Amino acid sequence: MPKTLIAGNWKMNGSLAANERLWLELAAGLAAGGTGAAQAALCVPAVYLEQMQALMAQSGVALGAQDVSAQASGAYTGEVSAAMLQDFGVQYVIVGHSERRQYHGETDAVVAAKARAALDAGIVPIVCVGETLEQREAGETASVVGGQLAAVLAVLGADAARAVVAYEPVWAIGTGRTASPEQAQEVHASLRAQLAEAGAQDVPLLYGGSMNAANAASLLAQPDVNGGLIGGASLKAADFLKIIASAQ
Ligand code: PGA
Repeated sequence: MPKTLIAGNWKMNGSLAANERLWLELAAGLAAGGTGAAQAALCVPAVYLEQMQALMAQSGVALGAQDVSAQASGAYTGEVSAAMLQDFGVQYVIVGHSERRQYHGETDAVVAAKARAALDAGIVPIVCVGETLEQREAGETASVVGGQLAAVLAVLGADAARAVVAYEPVWAIGTGRTASPEQAQEVHASLRAQLAEAGAQDVPLLYGGSMNAANAASLLAQPDVNGGLIGGASLKAADFLKIIASAQ
């Protein structure tokens, strides 16, 4: 059985000193308890990739980034290419996080192009989809997340089978308000059906949005929840270790 992917999303947090402290605590916990049924990953700010690559070497925890340019190189001030991420041993990159869609105007087309650029460099894109509270209340959840996924599937074609998809309801991100296991499973089942139609039924489906040490086990127990994308709780070693241990 494939491992449960537990990916931390540090967002714009950390410092050289804080990262090292957090890592040493995580490493000590992992040395004691192992990762069991989980594949752990940390998606860190780009400037800390070099530091974390060195600290995490040989640990079995995968290194991830939080964004990637859709372009290969050139006059794109401030952007980081997939090849640059590859230089630092990056294995996963988050694309289409709702914070980037919201604050940076990333469209479905941009998200799809970023996923394509990542895969072309041998990096697994963690493609985020999710509805706002307004959209959920209007009964639009399935059409919104379905549309976001469809845009990516159309561009990736058969390569979609090498991606990871994260369902992150916008109303649950950083709010302490988590989707219930049943709500998560309902959306995951529809994403699974859509992936199956595209020949990518085995794509791991992560849940994200206020996943924490207390609720991880019940979310991860759902048949179509294959892991988690964890923001706030990934910044606390004890909590992240508990989520890793919740993977069965
Ligand atoms: P959260 O963030 O766990 O802090 O809600 C999840 C995410 O945005 O990836």
